Amino acid sequence: MFSHIALFCLVLFVAPSARSSTDEFVFNGFKRASNLSLDGYARITNDGAIQLTNETMRVMGHAFFSSPVRMLDSQHKNLSALSFSTIFVFDIITADGEGGGTGLTFVMSPSKTLPQADSGAYLGLFGAGNNGNFSNHVFAVEFDTAYIPGMFNETNDNHVGIDINSIISNISTPAGYYSNDSKKVDLELEMGKPIQVWIEYSGDMMVVNVTIAPLSVPKPSRPLISYTVNLSPIFKEHMYVGFSGATGQIVSSHYILGWSFQTNGMAAPLDISQLSIPQPPSASSSSNSSSMALAIKIGAITSIATLIAVGTGISIFFYLQQRAKLAETLEDWELDHPHRFRYKDLYKATKGFKETELLGRGGFGHVFKGVIKHAGEEVAVKKISHNTRQGIREFIAEIASLGRMRHRHLVELKGWCKRNEDLLLVYEFMPKGSLDMLLFDGENSTILSWQQRFKILKGVAAGILYLHQEWEQVVVHRDIKASNVLLDATMDAKISDFGLARLYEHGNNLHTTHVVGTLGYMAPELSRTGRSTTSSDVFAFGALLLEVACGRRPIKFEAPPNELSLVDWVRECQEKGELLQVADSRLQKCYNKEEMELVLKLGLVCCQSVPEVRPSMKQVIQYLNGDEHLADDAGLIFSEGESLDLASVRISYASSYAMASTSSLTGGR
Ligand SMILES: *[C@@H]1O[C@H](CO)[C@@H](O)[C@H](O)[C@H]1NC(C)=O
Ligand SMILES: *[C@@H]1O[C@H](CO)[C@@H](O)[C@H](O)[C@H]1NC(C)=O
Ligand SMILES: *[C@@H]1O[C@H](CO)[C@@H](O)[C@H](O)[C@H]1NC(C)=O
Ligand SMILES: *[C@@H]1O[C@H](CO)[C@@H](O)[C@H](O)[C@H]1NC(C)=O
Ligand SMILES: *[C@@H]1O[C@H](CO)[C@@H](O)[C@H](O)[C@H]1NC(C)=O
Ligand SMILES: *[C@@H]1O[C@H](CO)[C@@H](O)[C@H](O)[C@H]1NC(C)=O
Ligand SMILES: *[C@@H]1O[C@H](CO)[C@@H](O)[C@H](O)[C@H]1NC(C)=O
Ligand SMILES: *[C@@H]1O[C@H](CO)[C@@H](O)[C@H](O)[C@H]1NC(C)=O
Repeated sequence: MFSHIALFCLVLFVAPSARSSTDEFVFNGFKRASNLSLDGYARITNDGAIQLTNETMRVMGHAFFSSPVRMLDSQHKNLSALSFSTIFVFDIITADGEGGGTGLTFVMSPSKTLPQADSGAYLGLFGAGNNGNFSNHVFAVEFDTAYIPGMFNETNDNHVGIDINSIISNISTPAGYYSNDSKKVDLELEMGKPIQVWIEYSGDMMVVNVTIAPLSVPKPSRPLISYTVNLSPIFKEHMYVGFSGATGQIVSSHYILGWSFQTNGMAAPLDISQLSIPQPPSASSSSNSSSMALAIKIGAITSIATLIAVGTGISIFFYLQQRAKLAETLEDWELDHPHRFRYKDLYKATKGFKETELLGRGGFGHVFKGVIKHAGEEVAVKKISHNTRQGIREFIAEIASLGRMRHRHLVELKGWCKRNEDLLLVYEFMPKGSLDMLLFDGENSTILSWQQRFKILKGVAAGILYLHQEWEQVVVHRDIKASNVLLDATMDAKISDFGLARLYEHGNNLHTTHVVGTLGYMAPELSRTGRSTTSSDVFAFGALLLEVACGRRPIKFEAPPNELSLVDWVRECQEKGELLQVADSRLQKCYNKEEMELVLKLGLVCCQSVPEVRPSMKQVIQYLNGDEHLADDAGLIFSEGESLDLASVRISYASSYAMASTSSLTGGR
């Protein structure tokens, strides 16, 4: 009651004091396209929602309020950004109810066409030609359902971020809201249910607040993001406000259901009852819970639908058989590796999974340092958080593939533990951290020497060779990159993260649904075939060779366009006969010239666009050991622009593990 009176007074107070220029509008649903400018795949649905994209790969759509809004106050000598507030409701729908891509944004821009924008990871906001350029004058809040580790300063595949002139977020945080007792409640952006968003900017305080909540929850009092920034130099006097949406290799439909906006005051609350909520497609029959439910219903009316019942029966049979198979896998593994840690011990070892013990965060969850009390042994504990949809699948994948593998250049899995929704994997501790950290986060005094780098590369090659050719099955790693190379005390390299590994049993023709990998390390054919192979691993290793030699990430968004992709840049320098120009300048020319040339040339050979002409890991090792010589003028095969297919970027941990229907394991939870 009191709060209502307070609110009323506030409104009365704010309205008269508002400065002269005020723009405001409310759309309780979009029954007509009037006053909106749409482009790309954006359209108004029959139900009165803006659909920014449908489920077509690599497309984008924009929807802007057709008239520009005055965003700078010119009453004083200095132009300063006006306060504004906006409320909207969005809904992201995916066909299979599983990981979609890539996201939508609320955007303020001097242009309503965003001519240089690209789909995929650029979210329809920016493109390679203008990303990070201060003359963009673009402010956006992104709702992003893809995750590209180390690239865009994002936290996971379900995050909210503020982007100023660049797709590299100024701030990014996993989606969620704060309840009254200030507990953060996780919120899945692509859950197929509408989410309400409040964005407010105070021109006096220079703070942007972003708050989100499910439609059923009133506006939380504490914002999800509160970011201090002066938007005066970002805004132009007249700005267009609206939305962008984009898909990548994996797709979602992005909808805006209602929207209000106001400068110099609070945007009008939306009338939720007027919004029409898009219906998610009915759950597909591959989901085990629905096929089980279906089976029960059909069981009751067997006489009518014997045929369907037989079909469903078969799917249940497969489901049960699948479950038995996976259970067996676990038991096999347990027999080999009886070390199931007690949760209590791991809890103690990591001091209760304390922030200070955090070694890093990966796609699945956090990695903590731990000391097992009685043994005094140091370990790394990977905690797969409960809200990871594919948690169990990855857990089993990881255990099954790692359990019995032993190699000098693979990180050893020591044991595991499962408690409620938490999945924990215990690894040997790697005191020197990841190659990625050593290459890019180190002080100048601790720059890796060439000798160390060369040894690390040989170690990684040996580890991959083991996976590809020396173990009893062919194992494709699928995500070879610097952050998955860890170093022990003697700076020997070990490959980690087999969460994505997938067993290729000889002669088994398995099909993947989702491309897995990391931008810059992903072979071009992956976006066509979606199928990781040993030669796509070789491509990733090639990118790693170049990265280590040049001391530069495979993709550098801050770089000039011709240096954006490392492979292209090295190739260009090679063609100009200036190969050594690309060598890491921090080495100050302290390297063995032959080895450096070898690594750079071999990197290019591995990164050729045609998989068939890439060498095998066995050959790679022969080259690295000098047992075999690279032809000097090897006619390398590259197709223009293919080494960097940004629009197809999608980092998905959703790939099914080995056998076809493991999704039944997670679907029913
Ligand atoms: C469109 O905008 C004009 C002026 O800004 C306003 O008069 C009109 O009512 C608007 N139409 C709709 C459908 O909102
Ligand atoms: C998406 O929209 C385009 C253009 O409106 C249409 O041709 C296509 O069939 C749609 N695709 C899907 C999957 O709905
Ligand atoms: C304009 O900005 C400058 C530099 O920030 C400041 O010194 C000056 O006082 C400002 N003028 C007004 C009228 O606010
Ligand atoms: C930024 O954009 C402006 C205008 O489009 C252009 O003139 C300038 O060259 C760009 N700067 C860079 C570094 O690309
Ligand atoms: C963050 O915002 C400022 C503008 O205040 C901008 O200059 C900067 O480049 C932005 N980006 C990042 C990644 O910090
Ligand atoms: C990345 O985001 C964090 C907060 O999410 C921010 O503190 C940091 O400055 C950002 N880094 C870059 C390079 O923009
Ligand atoms: C933003 O959030 C902070 C923290 O809750 C609050 O103090 C501030 O008043 C908010 N600012 C706006 C413009 O809503
Ligand atoms: C906070 O508490 C108020 C009053 O008890 C309640 O109406 C509101 O729904 C709560 N908000 C959230 C975000 O839980």
